[in-house]
Amino acid sequence: MKKIIIAIDGYSSTGKSTVAKQLADYLDYTYVDSGAMYRAVALFALQNNYISKNSFDQELFIKALPEIELDFKKENDNSKTNMFLNGVNVEKEIRSMYVSDFVSPVATLSEVRKKLVAIQHQMGVKKGIVMDGRDIGTIVFPEAELKIFMNADAEVRAMRRFNELKEKNQTITYDEILKNVQKRDLIDTTREDSPLIIANDAIELDNSETNKEDQFHIILQLAKDRIAGRI
Ligand code: DC
Repeated sequence: MKKIIIAIDGYSSTGKSTVAKQLADYLDYTYVDSGAMYRAVALFALQNNYISKNSFDQELFIKALPEIELDFKKENDNSKTNMFLNGVNVEKEIRSMYVSDFVSPVATLSEVRKKLVAIQHQMGVKKGIVMDGRDIGTIVFPEAELKIFMNADAEVRAMRRFNELKEKNQTITYDEILKNVQKRDLIDTTREDSPLIIANDAIELDNSETNKEDQFHIILQLAKDRIAGRI
Protein backbone atom coordinates (compact mmCIF):
# COMPACT_ATOMS: atom_id res chain seq x y z
CA MET A 1 0.00 0.00 0.00
CA LYS A 2 1.17 3.53 -0.76
CA LYS A 3 2.89 5.19 2.21
CA ILE A 4 2.45 8.89 2.91
CA ILE A 5 3.88 11.60 5.18
CA ILE A 6 1.51 13.01 7.79
CA ALA A 7 2.48 16.38 9.30
CA ILE A 8 0.71 17.47 12.48
CA ASP A 9 1.39 21.03 13.58
CA GLY A 10 -0.24 23.30 16.08
CA TYR A 11 -0.09 25.11 19.38
CA SER A 12 1.40 23.49 22.48
CA SER A 13 -0.75 21.06 24.44
CA THR A 14 -3.36 20.62 21.71
CA GLY A 15 -2.98 16.84 21.80
CA LYS A 16 -0.81 16.61 18.68
CA SER A 17 1.36 13.82 20.03
CA THR A 18 -1.60 11.77 21.28
CA VAL A 19 -3.29 11.71 17.90
CA ALA A 20 0.01 11.33 16.02
CA LYS A 21 0.84 8.24 18.10
CA GLN A 22 -2.64 6.78 17.57
CA LEU A 23 -2.32 7.27 13.81
CA ALA A 24 1.18 5.81 13.65
CA ASP A 25 0.10 2.74 15.65
CA TYR A 26 -2.97 2.19 13.48
CA LEU A 27 -1.16 2.65 10.16
CA ASP A 28 2.05 0.95 11.35
CA TYR A 29 3.99 4.14 10.60
CA THR A 30 6.94 5.66 12.45
CA TYR A 31 5.99 8.36 14.94
CA VAL A 32 8.39 11.25 15.52
CA ASP A 33 7.87 13.84 18.26
CA SER A 34 9.94 16.75 16.93
CA GLY A 35 9.23 18.77 20.09
CA ALA A 36 11.15 16.14 22.08
CA MET A 37 14.22 16.96 19.97
CA TYR A 38 13.95 20.70 20.75
CA ARG A 39 13.39 19.83 24.40
CA ALA A 40 16.53 17.64 24.48
CA VAL A 41 18.59 20.45 22.94
CA ALA A 42 17.20 22.86 25.58
CA LEU A 43 18.13 20.35 28.30
CA PHE A 44 21.68 20.23 26.92
CA ALA A 45 21.84 24.06 27.09
CA LEU A 46 20.63 23.98 30.71
CA GLN A 47 22.95 21.16 31.79
CA ASN A 48 25.95 23.01 30.42
CA ASN A 49 24.88 26.40 31.77
CA TYR A 50 24.57 28.06 28.37
CA ILE A 51 21.11 29.21 29.42
CA SER A 52 19.67 30.18 32.79
CA LYS A 53 16.92 32.42 34.12
CA ASN A 54 18.90 35.57 33.49
CA SER A 55 21.25 34.83 30.62
CA PHE A 56 21.70 32.94 27.37
CA ASP A 57 25.19 32.64 25.90
CA GLN A 58 24.03 31.97 22.36
CA GLU A 59 27.47 32.17 20.79
CA LEU A 60 29.05 29.48 22.98
CA PHE A 61 25.94 27.34 22.79
CA ILE A 62 25.90 27.44 18.97
CA LYS A 63 29.57 26.42 18.95
CA ALA A 64 28.69 23.42 21.14
CA LEU A 65 25.83 22.19 18.91
CA PRO A 66 27.98 19.56 17.12
CA GLU A 67 28.44 17.86 20.52
CA ILE A 68 24.73 17.03 20.63
CA GLU A 69 23.67 13.58 19.50
CA LEU A 70 19.98 12.74 19.51
CA ASP A 71 18.36 9.34 19.19
CA PHE A 72 14.89 7.87 19.53
CA LYS A 73 15.28 4.43 21.11
CA LYS A 74 13.31 1.83 23.02
CA GLU A 75 14.82 0.62 26.30
CA ASN A 76 13.51 -2.85 25.49
CA ASP A 77 11.24 -4.40 22.86
CA ASN A 78 8.05 -3.68 24.78
CA SER A 79 8.78 -0.18 25.97
CA LYS A 80 7.73 3.01 24.27
CA THR A 81 10.20 5.11 22.30
CA ASN A 82 12.29 7.42 24.45
CA MET A 83 14.44 10.45 23.66
CA PHE A 84 18.15 9.91 24.21
CA LEU A 85 20.60 12.82 24.52
CA ASN A 86 24.24 11.78 24.03
CA GLY A 87 23.39 8.20 24.97
CA VAL A 88 21.32 9.04 28.07
CA ASN A 89 17.57 8.49 28.31
CA VAL A 90 16.15 11.99 29.02
CA GLU A 91 12.49 11.23 28.26
CA LYS A 92 11.27 12.13 31.75
CA GLU A 93 13.46 15.18 32.26
CA ILE A 94 12.52 16.86 28.98
CA ARG A 95 8.82 16.88 29.99
CA SER A 96 9.46 18.87 33.20
CA MET A 97 8.45 22.51 33.58
CA TYR A 98 12.15 23.29 34.07
CA VAL A 99 12.77 22.38 30.42
CA SER A 100 9.40 23.72 29.16
CA ASP A 101 10.37 27.18 30.39
CA PHE A 102 13.53 27.30 28.26
CA VAL A 103 12.64 25.35 25.14
CA SER A 104 11.00 28.13 23.11
CA PRO A 105 13.97 30.56 23.29
CA VAL A 106 16.32 27.71 22.32
CA ALA A 107 14.02 26.79 19.41
CA THR A 108 14.19 30.35 18.02
CA LEU A 109 17.86 29.87 17.01
CA SER A 110 18.31 29.22 13.28
CA GLU A 111 21.39 27.07 13.93
CA VAL A 112 19.36 24.76 16.18
CA ARG A 113 16.52 24.56 13.67
CA LYS A 114 18.88 23.82 10.79
CA LYS A 115 20.43 20.91 12.66
CA LEU A 116 17.10 19.40 13.72
CA VAL A 117 15.29 19.93 10.40
CA ALA A 118 18.10 18.06 8.59
CA ILE A 119 17.69 15.06 10.94
CA GLN A 120 13.88 15.18 10.66
CA HIS A 121 13.96 15.39 6.88
CA GLN A 122 16.16 12.31 6.72
CA MET A 123 13.67 10.37 8.87
CA GLY A 124 10.96 10.89 6.24
CA VAL A 125 12.88 9.75 3.20
CA LYS A 126 11.05 6.41 3.08
CA LYS A 127 7.67 7.98 3.99
CA GLY A 128 5.35 6.03 6.30
CA ILE A 129 5.88 8.65 9.01
CA VAL A 130 3.73 10.79 11.31
CA MET A 131 5.63 13.77 12.70
CA ASP A 132 4.26 16.42 15.01
CA GLY A 133 5.64 19.87 15.78
CA ARG A 134 5.35 23.50 14.71
CA ASP A 135 6.94 23.64 11.24
CA ILE A 136 6.46 20.13 9.90
CA GLY A 137 3.96 21.00 7.15
CA THR A 138 5.66 24.29 6.27
CA ILE A 139 9.43 23.65 6.50
CA VAL A 140 10.29 20.01 7.23
CA PHE A 141 7.86 18.30 4.83
CA PRO A 142 6.21 20.94 2.62
CA GLU A 143 5.40 18.03 0.29
CA ALA A 144 3.52 16.02 2.99
CA GLU A 145 0.39 14.36 1.62
CA LEU A 146 -1.64 15.18 4.75
CA LYS A 147 -1.19 18.27 6.91
CA ILE A 148 -3.20 18.89 10.05
CA PHE A 149 -3.08 22.09 12.10
CA MET A 150 -4.41 21.71 15.65
CA ASN A 151 -5.71 24.41 17.92
CA ALA A 152 -7.70 24.75 21.16
CA ASP A 153 -8.40 27.56 23.65
CA ALA A 154 -5.36 28.35 25.83
CA GLU A 155 -7.38 27.76 29.03
CA VAL A 156 -8.51 24.33 27.84
CA ARG A 157 -4.93 23.40 26.93
CA ALA A 158 -3.57 24.60 30.29
CA MET A 159 -6.19 22.58 32.17
CA ARG A 160 -5.31 19.41 30.20
CA ARG A 161 -1.61 19.92 30.95
CA PHE A 162 -2.37 20.64 34.62
CA ASN A 163 -4.26 17.35 34.94
CA GLU A 164 -1.47 15.44 33.18
CA LEU A 165 1.24 16.86 35.45
CA LYS A 166 -0.91 16.32 38.55
CA GLU A 167 -1.14 12.64 37.63
CA LYS A 168 2.65 12.56 37.48
CA ASN A 169 2.76 14.19 40.95
CA GLN A 170 4.45 17.34 39.69
CA THR A 171 3.54 20.26 41.93
CA ILE A 172 2.61 23.19 39.77
CA THR A 173 -0.36 25.54 39.73
CA TYR A 174 -2.83 25.96 36.89
CA ASP A 175 -1.87 29.66 36.62
CA GLU A 176 1.81 28.83 36.14
CA ILE A 177 0.92 26.41 33.35
CA LEU A 178 -1.42 28.87 31.66
CA LYS A 179 1.36 31.49 31.71
CA ASN A 180 3.82 28.99 30.21
CA VAL A 181 1.34 28.02 27.47
CA GLN A 182 0.68 31.68 26.59
CA LYS A 183 4.38 32.56 26.64
CA ARG A 184 5.25 29.64 24.36
CA ASP A 185 2.40 30.52 21.96
CA LEU A 186 3.77 34.03 21.68
CA ILE A 187 7.40 32.98 21.11
CA ASP A 188 6.45 30.15 18.71
CA THR A 189 4.24 32.38 16.54
CA THR A 190 6.45 35.48 16.46
CA ARG A 191 9.96 34.04 16.02
CA GLU A 192 11.71 35.02 12.81
CA ASP A 193 12.81 31.56 11.68
CA SER A 194 9.98 29.11 10.93
CA PRO A 195 7.24 30.64 13.08
CA LEU A 196 4.18 28.55 13.84
CA ILE A 197 1.86 29.31 10.93
CA ILE A 198 -0.77 27.27 9.19
CA ALA A 199 0.35 25.84 5.83
CA ASN A 200 -1.86 26.81 2.87
CA ASP A 201 -2.89 23.22 2.31
CA ALA A 202 -3.34 22.22 5.98
CA ILE A 203 -6.66 21.21 7.49
CA GLU A 204 -7.37 23.13 10.70
CA LEU A 205 -9.00 21.34 13.62
CA ASP A 206 -10.02 23.06 16.85
CA ASN A 207 -10.44 20.46 19.57
CA SER A 208 -11.56 22.67 22.47
CA GLU A 209 -14.79 20.69 22.47
CA THR A 210 -13.90 17.48 20.64
CA ASN A 211 -12.90 14.34 22.46
CA LYS A 212 -9.77 12.37 21.57
CA GLU A 213 -11.62 9.45 20.02
CA ASP A 214 -13.71 11.60 17.65
CA GLN A 215 -10.69 13.57 16.64
CA PHE A 216 -8.68 10.42 15.93
CA HIS A 217 -11.42 9.09 13.66
CA ILE A 218 -11.68 12.36 11.74
CA ILE A 219 -7.92 12.42 11.07
CA LEU A 220 -7.73 8.68 10.36
CA GLN A 221 -10.40 9.03 7.69
CA LEU A 222 -8.46 11.89 6.10
CA ALA A 223 -5.30 9.75 6.14
CA LYS A 224 -7.09 6.78 4.57
CA ASP A 225 -8.45 9.04 1.84
CA ARG A 226 -4.99 10.43 1.09
CA ILE A 227 -3.42 6.96 1.07
CA ALA A 228 -6.09 5.77 -1.37
CA GLY A 229 -5.59 8.93 -3.44
CA ARG A 230 -9.28 9.86 -3.04
CA ILE A 231 -8.57 13.53 -2.15
O1 DC B 1 5.59 20.03 21.04
P1 DC B 1 6.29 20.51 22.32
O2 DC B 1 5.42 21.41 23.15
O3 DC B 1 6.90 19.40 23.11
O4 DC B 1 7.50 21.42 21.77
C1 DC B 1 8.39 22.05 22.65
C2 DC B 1 8.87 23.37 22.06
O5 DC B 1 9.71 23.11 20.94
C3 DC B 1 7.80 24.33 21.58
O6 DC B 1 7.56 25.34 22.52
C4 DC B 1 8.36 24.92 20.31
C5 DC B 1 9.48 24.03 19.90
N1 DC B 1 9.23 23.31 18.65
C6 DC B 1 9.54 23.93 17.48
O7 DC B 1 9.95 25.10 17.49
N2 DC B 1 9.43 23.26 16.30
C7 DC B 1 8.98 22.01 16.27
N3 DC B 1 8.88 21.37 15.09
C8 DC B 1 8.62 21.35 17.46
C9 DC B 1 8.74 22.03 18.65
